[in-house]
Amino acid sequence: MTWLRLSQHVRTLYRTVVLCVLCQVAHSDLVVSPAGLTQINILAGSTVTLAVSYSGATNPAIVWKMGSVPVVTWTINSTTPPDIPVNNRDVLTVMANGSLTFVNVSVEYTNNYTVEMTKSGQGTASATFTLKVFEHIENVTVDLQPDFASEGADRFTLQYTMLRGVVEEQTWFFKGTEIKNNSHYLVEQRSLVVLKPNRSDTGQYSVVLKNPFSTVTTQKTVTVLYGPDEPILEASPAQQFYISGDSLTLSCKTEGLPQPVLKWVFGGEPVSGSVGGILNLTNVQTNQSGIYNCTAINEKTKLQRQKSMNLKVYEKPEGTPMCSVHSVNNTDLQYDCQWSGGSPQAQLSFPALSNSSSGMGHLSLTVSASDSLDGTPVSCTADHPIEKNECNITASRPAEFLPSMRTTVNSEGKIEVTITCLSEASPKTVVSWSKGNETVSSGSTYQISSNTTQLDIQHYNVSNFLLHNYTCTCRNPLGFQKRGIQLQGPSISDSNLFPNQDGTVVTLTWEVPPTSVVTGFDVQMKGPELQTQSRNDTKTRGSSDVFTTILLKPGSARSADILFLDPDRTYRFRIIPKARSTEGEPSKVHRIRPGDGLSGPAIAGIAAGIPCSLLFLILLGGFIYLCFYCHKNKSQLGRYPKTRAHETVIKNKSDPSPHNLLAGGLKPPPDYNRLHQTPSERSVTLPSFVPPPPVRVATTV
Ligand SMILES: *[C@@H]1O[C@H](CO)[C@@H](O)[C@H](O)[C@H]1NC(C)=O
Ligand SMILES: *[C@@H]1O[C@H](CO)[C@@H](O)[C@H](O)[C@H]1NC(C)=O
Ligand SMILES: *[C@@H]1O[C@H](CO)[C@@H](O)[C@H](O)[C@H]1NC(C)=O
Ligand SMILES: *[C@@H]1O[C@H](CO)[C@@H](O)[C@H](O)[C@H]1NC(C)=O
Ligand SMILES: *[C@@H]1O[C@H](CO)[C@@H](O)[C@H](O)[C@H]1NC(C)=O
Ligand SMILES: *[C@@H]1O[C@H](CO)[C@@H](O)[C@H](O)[C@H]1NC(C)=O
Ligand SMILES: *[C@@H]1O[C@H](CO)[C@@H](O)[C@H](O)[C@H]1NC(C)=O
Ligand SMILES: *[C@@H]1O[C@H](CO)[C@@H](O)[C@H](O)[C@H]1NC(C)=O
Ligand SMILES: *[C@@H]1O[C@H](CO)[C@@H](O)[C@H](O)[C@H]1NC(C)=O
Ligand SMILES: *[C@@H]1O[C@H](CO)[C@@H](O)[C@H](O)[C@H]1NC(C)=O
Ligand SMILES: *[C@@H]1O[C@H](CO)[C@@H](O)[C@H](O)[C@H]1NC(C)=O
Ligand SMILES: *[C@@H]1O[C@H](CO)[C@@H](O)[C@H](O)[C@H]1NC(C)=O
Repeated sequence: MTWLRLSQHVRTLYRTVVLCVLCQVAHSDLVVSPAGLTQINILAGSTVTLAVSYSGATNPAIVWKMGSVPVVTWTINSTTPPDIPVNNRDVLTVMANGSLTFVNVSVEYTNNYTVEMTKSGQGTASATFTLKVFEHIENVTVDLQPDFASEGADRFTLQYTMLRGVVEEQTWFFKGTEIKNNSHYLVEQRSLVVLKPNRSDTGQYSVVLKNPFSTVTTQKTVTVLYGPDEPILEASPAQQFYISGDSLTLSCKTEGLPQPVLKWVFGGEPVSGSVGGILNLTNVQTNQSGIYNCTAINEKTKLQRQKSMNLKVYEKPEGTPMCSVHSVNNTDLQYDCQWSGGSPQAQLSFPALSNSSSGMGHLSLTVSASDSLDGTPVSCTADHPIEKNECNITASRPAEFLPSMRTTVNSEGKIEVTITCLSEASPKTVVSWSKGNETVSSGSTYQISSNTTQLDIQHYNVSNFLLHNYTCTCRNPLGFQKRGIQLQGPSISDSNLFPNQDGTVVTLTWEVPPTSVVTGFDVQMKGPELQTQSRNDTKTRGSSDVFTTILLKPGSARSADILFLDPDRTYRFRIIPKARSTEGEPSKVHRIRPGDGLSGPAIAGIAAGIPCSLLFLILLGGFIYLCFYCHKNKSQLGRYPKTRAHETVIKNKSDPSPHNLLAGGLKPPPDYNRLHQTPSERSVTLPSFVPPPPVRVATTV
C-alpha cells in the first residue's frame, strides 16, 4: 500500500516537475551548436562527422533528422543503444557527445540534417547541417535529339548522360562562348534546347559539368541540315529567246546540306543528261520550248523545292513574206500576205489598209477597189521575234498592151490562130472576147483558155479568119483595157538578101505583118542550077527562066540560106507567104549578080530603099567588112557558112513550135517601135552571118 501511495506521490511530483519545466522553458539554457562546418561537401565513400556541441544540460535526448525523417534517436550517456533504422546502421553512428558520423557515405545521404536536443526542464535546441555527397563525374556523353538537327524544325536538344557522378553545375558552350538562356537557347536540367535552329547553329557544343571534386568537359558537334534553298535558275548565254539550232546551258543552283539532288523536268518528263543541275542543250528545236522545272531534294530531310523557267526557242518562218493581191468578184481587191511556218508565227498586218486587222502567218484583207489603190504600193509588215520583214504589193489597173498572135497548123490540118491579150495588171486581168459586137464563147471554132488570156480559132480556110474583127477586154477591179485585132491574109512586109563574100551563099530574111496569118513560106529562085545538092534540102533544083521553089520554110521561119551558088552567075530570089494552100502576095525579087558578094551590105541597103544616109552606110559597111574580114581570118576559113547552113535548115524544119509573131505584145509600145529597124541597122548583123532571130518583136495592131 505504501508502495502504491509512494508511486502516486512520484507521479504527482513528476507532473509537477513537467509542469514546472514547461513553465520554465523560456528560461532554458540548453544550447546546441555546430562544432564545425554546417555545409559539408564530401566525396562518396569517405567518412564524415556532423559535429555538434551542447551546453546547459546533461544527457539530453537527441534526435537526428535526415530531412524531416528521424534517423537517430538516443539519450546521451544512456546505456540504451541509439535507435537507428536498420538500413542506415552501416553508415550512421552517433558519437557519445551527440555528433553524427557517416562511414563510407553514399550519395543518397545528401540532405539537410537537423539535430534536436531535448532535456526535460531545459527545453529543446537544434542545429542544422547540410551534407552533400558527391561522386567523380565519369563517362559523360552528349546526345542529340532528334537524330539530326534541321533548319526549320522546332528545336533540337543536346542532353548529357553519364555513368556516374553528381553534377553541381552545368555550363554549355557553343563555339567556346557560354550559352545563356534566351529566346534561342533553353538550358534545362540535363540538357540544352536550341529553339528554331538554323544553319548557323552548326558547330561544336560543349558542356562543362562540375562538382567540388571533378570537372568534366564533353563536346558534341552538331550539324544543322538545311535546304534546299530556293533554286536559282539560269540559262547561259542569257537571252530573251533562242533560235532553233542554238546551244545553251541551263543551270539550277541551290544550297543545302547535304547537297540537294537536282532534277530537271520538262513536259512532265525528267530530262536526262543533267549533271549537278547543269543541263546542256545543243541544237535546240522549237519543241524544246516551254517550262523547265528544276526540283531540288534534300535526301536526308526529304524537303524539296521547285523552280521553273520558261525557255523560248523560236524559229523564223521560211523565206520572206509574200504579198499578193487578188480580185474578188472583179469588184473588190483582196490583199494577201503570207509568211507561214516559224515559231511563233509571224504577225502580219497591212498598216496602210487597216490598223486593226492582223493575222498570224497569213492575212487576207478585202477592200473595195478605188483609184487611190491604183499603183500605190501597199506594205505588209511581218513581225517575228527573230526578224521583222515586209513585202510590198501594188495593185494596178490593166496597162496598155498589144495583142499577140501565132499561127500553126494543127493535126487535123486546120489553121489554128491563137490570139493572146495579156495586159500587165495586178490582180491579173480577166479577158472577155468578142468578134464584131458579139461575145465569143468557147465552142468548136473558138476556144478560150481557162485563164481567158488566149483565144484559139480553128479553120481550114484562111478567109474565115478575116471575116471578123476581134476585140479583147482585159479587166480587173481597178479598170479595163480594150483592144481590137483585125487579121490579115498571108503577106510579107519586108525582105532582104545578104550574100557572103564569095557570092556562093546568100541569106534571105523577111518580115511578116504582125496580124498576118501565115503557116509557111516557099523560097523560090530563078537562075542556073545550084552546083551541089545539099543532102537534106527538100528542093534544090534551079531553072534559068521561071521561079521554082527551092526551099519550104515553116511559119516561124524568117530567114533562109541558099548554098552552093555559082559566084559568076546571076540569081533571083523571092518568098511566097502561105496559109496552108492559100498563097499570099510574093515578096519583092532579090537579085544577086557576079561581084555582089563584096558589096552586099551596101546593095542590101539600097535595095531596101529606106531613106538613110548612103555615105553612112558605105562607111559602116566598110567598117563592118573590115571586122568581118578579120573575124573570118581568125575563125579558120570555111567553117561557116557550110555547117551553119545545115544547122539552119535542119533547125527550121524540125522546129515544131509555133512562131509568136506578136511576142512584142508583151512589151510596151516604145519597144515595139524598134521593130521598124532600118535595113542599115540590120546590116550591122551581116558580117557574122547570123540570120535574124526567128522570134520577132510585134507591131501594134
Ligand atoms: C555519465 O554517467 C556516469 C554515471 O552513470 C557519470 O559518472 C558520468 O559522469 C556521466 N558523464 C557525463 C558526461 O555526464
Ligand atoms: C565528440 O567526440 C568525438 C570522439 O568521441 C570527438 O572526436 C569530438 O571532438 C567530440 N566533439 C566535441 C565537440 O567535443
Ligand atoms: C536543405 O535546406 C535548404 C534551406 O535551408 C533547402 O533549400 C534545401 O532544399 C534542403 N535540402 C534538402 C535535400 O531537403
Ligand atoms: C568510362 O570511362 C573510362 C575511362 O574514361 C573507361 O575506361 C570505361 O570503360 C568507361 N565506362 C563505360 C561504362 O563506358
Ligand atoms: C513546274 O513547277 C510549277 C511550279 O513552279 C508547277 O506548277 C508545275 O506543275 C510544274 N510542272 C511540272 C511539269 O512539274
Ligand atoms: C556541258 O558543257 C560543259 C562545257 O561545254 C561541260 O564542261 C559539261 O561537262 C557539260 N555537261 C554535261 C552534263 O554534258
Ligand atoms: C461574189 O458574188 C456572188 C454573187 O454576186 C456572191 O454570191 C458572192 O458572195 C460574192 N463573193 C464575194 C467573195 O463577195
Ligand atoms: C516596200 O516599200 C517601202 C516604201 O514604200 C520600202 O522602203 C521598202 O524597201 C519596200 N520593201 C520591199 C521588200 O520592197
Ligand atoms: C453591132 O453594133 C452596131 C453599132 O455599133 C450595130 O449597128 C449593130 O446592129 C450591132 N450588131 C449586132 C449583131 O449586135
Ligand atoms: C494561160 O493559159 C495558157 C494555156 O492554158 C498558157 O499557155 C498561158 O501561159 C496562160 N497565161 C498566163 C498569163 O498564165
Ligand atoms: C474591121 O475593122 C476595120 C476598121 O477598124 C473595118 O474597116 C473593117 O471593115 C472591119 N472588118 C470587119 C469584118 O468588121
Ligand atoms: C539529113 O536528114 C536526115 C533526116 O531528115 C537525118 O537523119 C540526117 O542526119 C541529115 N543529115 C545531115 C548531114 O544533116
